[in-house]
Amino acid sequence: MKILTLHGQSADSRIIINETLDNLEQYVPPKRTVIITDPNVSRYYRSRFPAWDVVETGTGEENKTLDAVRHLYHRLVELEVDRSCFIVGIGGGIVCDITGFVASTYLRGLPFGFVSTTLLSQVDASVGGKNGVNFQRYKNMIGVFNQPDFVLCDPAMLHTLPRRELLCGFAEVVKHAVIGDRDCFDFLTERYQAALALDSEVIERILYDSLRVKSAIVQRDEKEKGERRKLNFGHTYGHALEKTLGIPHGEAVSIGMVVAALLSVRRQLLTREEAEQVKTLLEHLHLPTQIAVDRDKIRDAFKKDKKREGEHIHFVLLKRIGEAVVEEIALRELEEVLTGT
Ligand SMILES: NC(=O)c1ccc[n+]([C@@H]2O[C@H](COP(=O)([O-])OP(=O)(O)OC[C@H]3O[C@@H](n4cnc5c(N)ncnc54)[C@H](O)[C@@H]3O)[C@@H](O)[C@H]2O)c1
Repeated sequence: MKILTLHGQSADSRIIINETLDNLEQYVPPKRTVIITDPNVSRYYRSRFPAWDVVETGTGEENKTLDAVRHLYHRLVELEVDRSCFIVGIGGGIVCDITGFVASTYLRGLPFGFVSTTLLSQVDASVGGKNGVNFQRYKNMIGVFNQPDFVLCDPAMLHTLPRRELLCGFAEVVKHAVIGDRDCFDFLTERYQAALALDSEVIERILYDSLRVKSAIVQRDEKEKGERRKLNFGHTYGHALEKTLGIPHGEAVSIGMVVAALLSVRRQLLTREEAEQVKTLLEHLHLPTQIAVDRDKIRDAFKKDKKREGEHIHFVLLKRIGEAVVEEIALRELEEVLTGT
């Protein structure tokens, strides 16, 4: 087991890597506790939850809404949850994002923690203090910055995860390696088969390295004024693909990272050989690296991007594997590079 501490502006958050769900009670203060989870996680793991009240929220991005939040407030009122209570979210990124928002706003904020049950959530979604829901057509439009007291990552829970969800998590692992940790990138390149087989030592190292990159960046720029934008590597084009094609987030980010690497080569920041290494690693992890797109729809999605400023967009590029840089690029230049994908 390894522990990382993320020093947030308002509070510290402990990230407990490779700890079993069975020890959850050790990390929760001696308070009345309520669990928020989803039906899939409940089906596999409810028998191992401590004897606390459990409320469920729906699965899928379309359920990450203010209606789901309202439903949870309602259930907490029914259970007479008061300011002496603690909330634990047990699930993937959707459960963690909603739980963090509900806990941060119900009764002006209750303390909360997460048990992160997907790879994407363990390396990314549950860590960093961004909590929120989608609104109208916009992802994560309504939310708060607030650090969980703890995030418990039990890699054994990844064995029940559908294969496609697991692979999506590896996209964020690769992202963290390419923006901040060349050694982790080399380790992944060498041990990708063991990683895919969920070898416990390999997964523990990957989780630790990945979380070190994310928590260091968040610590330096918790409210995303500058450096935290690096965590959006592959996401600008990725979000446009998600929106227009409806493909899963991790798959869209994988293709987005290849596009961002190509742009980096074009701007003479990255060597063609390094861009090829990024693509090869994603292919080894069975992630898509290109897809046919409707150019007009993609252009439209860029125009609606929250981060667009006029005809430019803040784009994360690579200087080399292990070092990212944020640059403004013209939408036109982005479109030009897409002809090569
Ligand atoms: N807050 C952040 O900083 C941040 C960062 C990245 C992503 N996100 C958000 O995370 C969300 C995606 O998270 P996700 O990929 O974990 O998806 P998810 O929460 O939808 O989980 C994927 C699926 O796996 C099921 N599941 C979860 N754990 C399981 C397990 N151990 N065994 C079997 N099934 C399991 C879920 O019920 C769901 O059907 C998106 O909404 C995204 O916006 C947030």
